[in-house]
Amino acid sequence: MTDLGSRFKDLFPTELPSELSALLPIEQNDYLLDGEIQTWEGPTEKIYSPVGFHNAEGFQRLYLGHCPAMDEATALRALASARKAWNNGRGEWPTLSVEKRIQQVERFIHGMKACRSQMVSLLILEIGKSQSDAAKEFDRTVEYMYDTVQALKELDRQSSRFAIEGGIIAQSRRSPLGVTLCMGPFNYPLNETFTTLIPALIMGNPVVFKPPRFGVLLYHALLPLFRDCFPAGVINTLYGSGKQVVGPLMASGQIDVLAFIGSAGVANTLKKQHPAPHRLRCILGLGAKNPAIVLPDADLDLVISEAVTGALSFNGQRCTALKIFFVHTQIAGEFLERFSQAIAALPFGMPWEKGVALTPLPEVGKPAYFEGLVQDALAQGAQVINPNGGQWHETFYYPALVYPVKAGMKLWSEEQFGPIIPVVPFEDIEEPIRYIVESEFGQQLSLFGQDPALLAQLVDPLVNQVCRINLNSQCQRGPDVFPFGGRKGSAEGTLSVSDALRSFSIRTLVAAKQTEANQGILTDMVRNRRSNFISSDYLF
Ligand code: G3H
Repeated sequence: MTDLGSRFKDLFPTELPSELSALLPIEQNDYLLDGEIQTWEGPTEKIYSPVGFHNAEGFQRLYLGHCPAMDEATALRALASARKAWNNGRGEWPTLSVEKRIQQVERFIHGMKACRSQMVSLLILEIGKSQSDAAKEFDRTVEYMYDTVQALKELDRQSSRFAIEGGIIAQSRRSPLGVTLCMGPFNYPLNETFTTLIPALIMGNPVVFKPPRFGVLLYHALLPLFRDCFPAGVINTLYGSGKQVVGPLMASGQIDVLAFIGSAGVANTLKKQHPAPHRLRCILGLGAKNPAIVLPDADLDLVISEAVTGALSFNGQRCTALKIFFVHTQIAGEFLERFSQAIAALPFGMPWEKGVALTPLPEVGKPAYFEGLVQDALAQGAQVINPNGGQWHETFYYPALVYPVKAGMKLWSEEQFGPIIPVVPFEDIEEPIRYIVESEFGQQLSLFGQDPALLAQLVDPLVNQVCRINLNSQCQRGPDVFPFGGRKGSAEGTLSVSDALRSFSIRTLVAAKQTEANQGILTDMVRNRRSNFISSDYLF
């Protein structure tokens, strides 16, 4: 019996809150293709929650429902539907005015807001996100969509005038790129998917969209909305194994844009499957192992509060999580003691319980993987510092603060994506710098300290290693108007409310020699509103 044994015994519930159980099961036999909700009659994939129950047969994950396990032929039909909507750039959606596209997206946002309660509940059930974080994910996504609309209006306003240069009159705008395949990650199945899907869509690209491994059923309520708010074929949904349904799409060469947030291995496979990678636009969010450097003069109150959320929000399952800490030896002892106390104060339990900070994990086999990481570190001289650190029960893993971590340990280089906090002591600032330079990742880092001269000395070389340096604060993506990207193996392309609009479009211009005849033609086009592209309409 472990120290947490008695807590673990009662960790999983005997029954679900009624408002959650009332939603279940969701037996999804439909999908959206060519503007119609079609019925799937083939095999299905069962979907289970990270939450489970003990019964006579042992621990059983809660059955949530099922979704279609599609085949290659259906995936190719979804692609054909998107290609038809694109119609080589001549389809209704890609040629629609920006104003009309915005109106349709606004209708969609309005409809989605009515699905809030069901979608938040499914985030809780499908990925084990706490009630408050699930609600935040939904609200942040809605805000992101509204901000996207505003950003596109602004972009359009800037493009609503003609430029005259060197005897040439030109109007330049951003045009869509083509059929876009969108796939988001399980940790933000709604938000991160929509931060690519919505900009892709609003810029005029038809989309084939596959929900992540966990976080599938939450989209079910949106199928009729997608159908009703957009022309046929502009959104098509895919379900099932990536190998079966995504591979053939890439191999067809008919995907123009790949928006993928997940592992580098999968991204490499997908890119390689495309027969003409030179014309494939990729927007990728991949792995990260964001380090924190804690300097000897750092304010430890602040460090601990940032470090705890930085490393452990949503059980550390964030690409931006702080995944390794370099702490100066002068303060390492106090850092460990206070971090350990802070972990002990974190409430854990079921994701719907009020105030809960640590919850069960959706990925099957993850606690055993974490145990392997910690065992590997222990075998090489590290210790688990916090009481009960690393104890686990079924799908729940209690955070482990591991010290001292050094090169050669798996925790040094592997992205744990979970509640393990590796701590490396250092004396010479060159040690963490070398780690960052040699790392295969380059997303973000955090610097904790108070000496402006030293911080500045670190900032200047480190901005060429990562895409965001956080001073005295944890790493994070938001606010979403800030650019979010990564160097090296961490990302391709930059996302933010406005950058995403650029990522999913290309600058295109119409130009004419400044002759009287051409001036007349352009004036006529504008005055008589003959074109959606050549226009001086100002979007308010
Ligand atoms: O998982 C990666 C997310 O983009 C992180 O976003 O920093 O807002 O949690 P966040």
